[in-house]
Amino acid sequence: MSPFISELPKVELHLHIEGTLEPEMVFALAKRNGITLDYADESALQAAYQFSDLQSFLNVYYQGMQVLQTEQDFFDLTWAYLMRSQAENVRHVEIFFDPQAHTDRGVAFADVIGGIGRALAQARQQWGLTSHLIMSFLRHLSQESAFETLRQAEPFRQQLAGIGLDSAEKDNPPTKFREVYAAAAAQGYRLVAHAGEEGPASYIRDALDVLQVERIDHGVAAIHDAPLMARLAQERIPLTVCPLSNLKLRVINDMSEHPMLALLHAGLCVTVNSDDPAYFGGYMNANYAALQQGLGASNDEILQLALNSVEACWLSAAEKAVLT
Ligand code: HPA
Ligand code: ZN
Repeated sequence: MSPFISELPKVELHLHIEGTLEPEMVFALAKRNGITLDYADESALQAAYQFSDLQSFLNVYYQGMQVLQTEQDFFDLTWAYLMRSQAENVRHVEIFFDPQAHTDRGVAFADVIGGIGRALAQARQQWGLTSHLIMSFLRHLSQESAFETLRQAEPFRQQLAGIGLDSAEKDNPPTKFREVYAAAAAQGYRLVAHAGEEGPASYIRDALDVLQVERIDHGVAAIHDAPLMARLAQERIPLTVCPLSNLKLRVINDMSEHPMLALLHAGLCVTVNSDDPAYFGGYMNANYAALQQGLGASNDEILQLALNSVEACWLSAAEKAVLT
C-alpha cells in the first residue's frame, strides 16, 4: 500500500453498514443467535462472492444480513467497521443502513438504529471520528413501504441526517419515489439517491430534477451523456463513486476502463468510496489503490479526489477546515 494513500486523511460518503459484514462475523453472529448457515465455513461463504451484476450481489447481501438480529449485533457490526476506518485514516463517515431489510424480518427499528448509533457515538468520543447516518429506502419495494419506514423513523429524526435510495436499480426509477422524497424533504432530511450505477444516465437526471437530491451515489453512467456531465460539473453535484464495487458487479470489465479520471478531468466532483467492502474486496485504501494501480491515478489526482470528498460531505465549514 502506498504511504501516500494510507496516510491521506479520508472521508467516506458511500458505505452500506450491512455491506461491512465480514464472513468471520457472519459465522460468529450465526453462532450467537443460534442460526444454521447454508455454508460449511468462512471460505465456503467467501467462495459465493462471485457476482455477475447488481442483483446477483443483492441476493447474497440480503441473505448474509439475516444474522443481524439484536442491538448488540448492529453495534458490533458498526464498531468493527469504524475500527477499520480508524486504522485507514478515515476521519469522517456518512453511512447508509437499510431499515426495511431488518424490520421486514421482525427486527425493531429501535434496535437497528440503537446499535449503529451507539457505535458512532463511541467512535466520536474515543477518536473524534465524525459521522452522519443516512436511512436508505429499498427501491425494489413500494413507495408505500418507504413511507411506512419514514413514519417509523420519526422518533429517531435527530439521529438521521438524510435519506437515500438503494437496491435493484433496473425498472425501479427515481420517479417511483417522488412523493416520499418530497415528504422527507419537508421534514428536513438531506436527500441522496443511487442512480446511474446499472441504470441509465436519465435516472441521474430524474434523481436531480424529480427527487431533488443534492448528491448522486455511483453516477458513473454520466460518462455516456455529455450534456449531463457538463451540468454535473457546472453545479458541482458530488458523485460518490465506488471503484471496486463497479469492478465486482461488472459495471466495468477492468479497472483500466473506469471513468473516474475522465469524470474528474471534466470538472465533476467525483469521490472515492467503498460501498460494500466485505463483499467487494476492500475498504477505502484499497479503492484508492485500485485507481492508482489499475488506472494510473497520480498522487495529485488522488489528492484531488480526497479533497472532493471533503467538499461533498455534510460537515460544517469549520469542521471541514480541520480536515484539509
Ligand atoms: N447498489 C444498490 N444497492 C445496494 C448497493 C449498491 O451498490 N449496495 C448495497 N445495496
Ligand atoms: Zn451503494
